[in-house]
Amino acid sequence: CKGINGLDKVVLGEPRGASAEVYLYGGHVTSWKNDHGEELLFVSSKAIFKPPKAIRGGIPICFPQFGSHGSLEQHGFARNRFWSIDTDPPPFPTNSKSFIDLILKPSEEDMQKWPHSYEFRLRVALGPGGDLMLTSRIRNTNADGKPFTFTFAYHTYFSVSDISEVRVEGLETLDYLDNLQNKERFTEQGDALTFESEVDKIYLSTPTKIAILDHEKKRTFVLRKDGLPDAVVWNPWDKKAKTMADFGDDEYKHMLCVEAAAVEKPITLKPGEEWKGRLELSTVPSSYCSGQ
Ligand code: BG6
Repeated sequence: CKGINGLDKVVLGEPRGASAEVYLYGGHVTSWKNDHGEELLFVSSKAIFKPPKAIRGGIPICFPQFGSHGSLEQHGFARNRFWSIDTDPPPFPTNSKSFIDLILKPSEEDMQKWPHSYEFRLRVALGPGGDLMLTSRIRNTNADGKPFTFTFAYHTYFSVSDISEVRVEGLETLDYLDNLQNKERFTEQGDALTFESEVDKIYLSTPTKIAILDHEKKRTFVLRKDGLPDAVVWNPWDKKAKTMADFGDDEYKHMLCVEAAAVEKPITLKPGEEWKGRLELSTVPSSYCSGQ
């Protein structure tokens, strides 16, 4: 069906009430709601749903480059390309009845920027319990025998009630690259992460499970990932927020990006090879997670 500004979107639904929305522009998940119809992802009220701007919020796909870690435009170009519905995807098992398969292939213009041929298949699925699952399968289809190398992220914007009440568990004591300090490497000290200023860090070789605890909502997001060793944590805070035209001045209080990513060690594919990167998001009541 049609979304904002007439852009095509696909709506996934699950009998108990959970839903998700995916824009073909960007292959971009813009909504994930639980059984009670509560929105779990943050999308800015100022988001611009108009190419070539990437949608501010939801789950942008960063490919073939994460951030400024390379010579391409920030976060690569997959997030502002028009994807197609993949009507005949290679078989891939799922326990979900509600899913959509999208595909992105390079245009001639893309090949001038990044001279590689690929098929990027993205499956977005809603599990029976309302879990959101994204699977990316990227295949090198270069005919010239050349390998290619890329970095990647599911740039997920979680909706939180109050950033100063949020904790992230699973990243303590890990090494990270700090984008606010020339990508220098540091080691996280102490306990779960809490937030009181701008943060833009790439945690390296992280566990496959990360939890985001929202005390006020009594909700914990559980992020599970596969094939994506790193995790980016980003919140622009007040000053940076004011410099972003598509982000409200106070919206930083209500969002946190925790991004399953492959940045430090780029992925190389030879012709015919395929890489798979999976993200699974679910929620549990906080009391369950913290054992109270
Ligand atoms: C994060 C990066 O993933 O995305 C930040 O680590 C960046 O450095 C942020 O500012 C937002 O990027 P963009 O291109 O969507 O404004």
